[in-house]
Amino acid sequence: MGPSWLKDAVFYEIYPQSFQDSNDDGIGDLQGIIRRLDYVAELGCNALWINPCFDSPFMDAGYDVRDYKLVAPRYGTNDDLVQLFAEAHARGIHVLLDLVPGHTSDQHPWFKESAKADPNEYSARYIWTDEALWGMEGRPYIAGMTERSGAYMLNFFASQPALNYGWLDPYKHWMSATDSPEARATIEAMKDVMRFWLDQGCDGFRVDMADSLVKGDDECKSGTCAIWREIRAMMDSDYPDAALVSEWSNPDLALCSAGFHMDFYLDHQRNGYNTLLRDYETEGGDHSYFLCDAGGSIRRFLDDYLPKYERSRDRGYISFITCNHDTPRPARTLSVAELKLAYALILTMPGVPFIYYGDEIGMRYLDLRTKEGGYQRTGSRSPMQWSRDKNAGFSGAPAEQLYLPQDASADAPCVSEQLADADSLLSEVRRLVALRHAHEDLQADAPFEVVNDNERTAPFVYRRGGLLLAVNPSSAKKTFEDSALVGRELVYRIGNPSVVGGRLVMSGQSFAVLSTQA
Ligand code: NOJ
Repeated sequence: MGPSWLKDAVFYEIYPQSFQDSNDDGIGDLQGIIRRLDYVAELGCNALWINPCFDSPFMDAGYDVRDYKLVAPRYGTNDDLVQLFAEAHARGIHVLLDLVPGHTSDQHPWFKESAKADPNEYSARYIWTDEALWGMEGRPYIAGMTERSGAYMLNFFASQPALNYGWLDPYKHWMSATDSPEARATIEAMKDVMRFWLDQGCDGFRVDMADSLVKGDDECKSGTCAIWREIRAMMDSDYPDAALVSEWSNPDLALCSAGFHMDFYLDHQRNGYNTLLRDYETEGGDHSYFLCDAGGSIRRFLDDYLPKYERSRDRGYISFITCNHDTPRPARTLSVAELKLAYALILTMPGVPFIYYGDEIGMRYLDLRTKEGGYQRTGSRSPMQWSRDKNAGFSGAPAEQLYLPQDASADAPCVSEQLADADSLLSEVRRLVALRHAHEDLQADAPFEVVNDNERTAPFVYRRGGLLLAVNPSSAKKTFEDSALVGRELVYRIGNPSVVGGRLVMSGQSFAVLSTQA
């Protein structure tokens, strides 16, 4: 199952542009993150994922890497990043960087070389056809922009050419095989990037579009999975304490076949995770489970999650997220009371949970003009709100110079006020994270089992190890009677649940954790 520290890990995702500006240029930076490490530690998070912080023209907020081995000057220097590793480690915090293996920026020197007419070492580092006047087999491509006669394949936006890991079954002579020298060279180049940062103290990577390496791959992604198994073998032998989390959202492949330690459960329309918090794209209104009285059923989540959990539980961890930089913030539709219950579930599930910066205070999804290829994602990327000071304590720059505008409402949530309020969302999150650390039964490995999912009159009840947990997101009181309740006491509550003998009464919008049976 990989490094033992994952068992009790609670991650915090930092979008470096928007966390803390230390030099008053209006954009967050690595020294700013260092300054806020105590905050992260006090939140109870013992691991970080930092979105790409490498040199880039920022056509996709840094997911268009120009130099994998150089920190973008706007965030600081390589020395700052190494210092961040050390300062984080001193506080018991592991640090994952963001690895973008599927594509680079079209400004990357590898790509510039590969775009030259004269053959060179990098000619086959990307996927090119051999003729600029013809397209690319129904795949996204660009032609006509380079002296080289050929069309090159895109992996995402127009500025992100696909690196060449070969094709599973090449059927054109310009398609490389997965074991060709050029495909091997790409794999070795990516391993070299990983080693470069791991050797300097980085604790692993979040892997962007982890499924996107080999082209023409089969349904089992056998070509791509083989590459990740090879990389996992390198980690197991040379960096056994380092961790990999995939942006894949397919634990059968990512955990069981590719060998990732963790795989994100992402907000994909109508999957189980989506039905919990963001089921607002469905016809007939928002039926999200945690939206009070919206009529959502926990079954929709369980039907999707349980089989995936059962099949992958011995192989790796499914990672629940509060949100991420691509996803609308949950506070877009959920109230503080609803968020508390949603986070209570997320932070008591098996696997390794991730909190997206600002979600712990209920930062809102803002209506913002696109920035650096963010489009509708931009609204979840606004600068952190620390206090009622200038620019909410994020930066000393003039407000119009900030990376993105901030929530201008008078009641915009902020850290300093919520720290002083025991009833705030932030205080609840801190208590929930502490609860998870205090009980091995709530951590990544402890078993999960559904005890009651018949919610007409009863709450959703689940077991983690020896603990019983119940959640009732509706406004109606719900009751659950069972001999399994006898001899248990409340060890955590939200709202006003009570347990007497074999009877658990859950007030409207409540959450309960019951001790092991006496
Ligand atoms: C997924 C990342 O999360 C997203 O922000 C990015 O735009 C694409 N991959 C392309 O790298």
